[in-house]
Amino acid sequence: MQIEPFAIERFYERWEFRAELMLSSSDCEALTVADLLGLEPDAAERLHALHLGYTEVPGSQELRSAVAGRYERADPADILTVAAAEEGIFVAYHALLGPGDHVVVETPCYGSAIEVARSTGAAVSLWQRRYEDDWAHDLDALQRLLRPDTRLIYINSPHNPTGTHMPTATFERIIDLARERSIVVFSDEVYRGLEHDPADALPAACDAYEHAISLGTVSKAYGLPGLRIGWLASRDRALLDRIRELKLYTTICSSAPSELLVALALRHAEELVERSRQLVLQNLPLVHAFVERRGQLLEWVRPSAGPIGFPRVAGQFDVERWCEQTAERASVLLLPGAVYAQPRHLRLGFGRANLPQALERLDGYLDAQPD
Ligand SMILES: Cc1ncc(COP(=O)(O)O)c(C=O)c1O
Repeated sequence: MQIEPFAIERFYERWEFRAELMLSSSDCEALTVADLLGLEPDAAERLHALHLGYTEVPGSQELRSAVAGRYERADPADILTVAAAEEGIFVAYHALLGPGDHVVVETPCYGSAIEVARSTGAAVSLWQRRYEDDWAHDLDALQRLLRPDTRLIYINSPHNPTGTHMPTATFERIIDLARERSIVVFSDEVYRGLEHDPADALPAACDAYEHAISLGTVSKAYGLPGLRIGWLASRDRALLDRIRELKLYTTICSSAPSELLVALALRHAEELVERSRQLVLQNLPLVHAFVERRGQLLEWVRPSAGPIGFPRVAGQFDVERWCEQTAERASVLLLPGAVYAQPRHLRLGFGRANLPQALERLDGYLDAQPD
C-alpha cells in the first residue's frame, strides 16, 4: 500500500504537546475517568471488576446497544465498533474500494478521507467547496463527477474544517443521486450533535438510506478522544460484514475498559453533548469578535456547526511558517490551512475551556508584532 503522509496529524504530532494553549483543536473539552464514573452509581465497581480479556469483534453487546440507541432505525447488529473514526475510515475504504473503483470526496476535508481512498487504488474525484462561494455545496458539480464506476461518496456534516452544516435539501439530493445509482454514502458524522442550532441537525445517513454508512465517534462532541472508540452504523449488513473481515487484521476488537466507559457515556449522551455544545456556543462570540478585531488579517464564514472555523488570511506571507512561529513564540497552536491544501487559510478551534486565555495570549502576541 502506498499512502501520502497525513498532513494534519503530522502537524499536530509535532506541535500539540509542545504548545501551551490550543486554539485549533477539533475536539471539545475532555472529561476525566472520574467524571464518567460519577454518571452511574455502580460504574466504578464495574470498572474495577472488569475482565481484561479480548472482547467481541463487532463491539460488546452493551456498547452496540448504546450506539444503536443514537439512531432511529439501527439495531445493535447494524453497528461495528472501531478504534475511533480514523480506523473506521481506513477499514471501510479498504474493504469496499480498490483499483477500478471511483470515489467522490467532499473537500476540503479531514485528510484521510482522500488519502486512504487513494491508497486503495481507487480513482478519487474531489467535490470542491470554496470560500469565495461561502463554502456552498454545488450539487451540479457533484452530479458531473458521478461515473458508472462510482462506488462511494464521502460527505461530512458538521464540517471539518469550515464549521458549516449541510442544508437538509442538499443532503436529501445526495441521497437521491446515490440511491438512483446504488452508490454507498459514507457520511462522516463525527461532529453530530454540535449544530449550533439543533434545528439544523440532519438525519443520520444510515437512517435515511439503506446503503449509507454513518461514521461516529466519542472523540469530538463527547469530549472522550482518549478512549479511542468510534463506530460504523449501516443497515446494509453485507457491507458491514466486509468491513468486519478487515478489522480482524487491524485491531480485532476494542479495548475492554474503553468499551465499558463509552457505553456508560452514551447512556448519558444528551447531557455530555449538550455540555460540549454549550461551551462552543459560549466561545463562538469571543472568537468571532477576535476575527472581526483582526479584520486586517482574518475573515471567515461564521461557523454554524461544530467547534472549528476556517478563516482566510490576508497578505502574501507563508501562513504555515507563521503558525509555527506563533506556536514557538506565543505557545498558541493554530492549524495552517496548507494541511488541507488551502494555504491561504488557518483553522481555529473553540471547543476548549481555556479559549479566553488562548485568545488573550494571541492578541498580546499580535499587538507586539511590527506592522
Ligand atoms: C471529520 C473527521 N473525521 C474523522 C476524524 C477522526 O476522529 P477520531 O479521533 O475519532 O479517530 C476526525 C478527527 O479530527 C475528523 O475531524
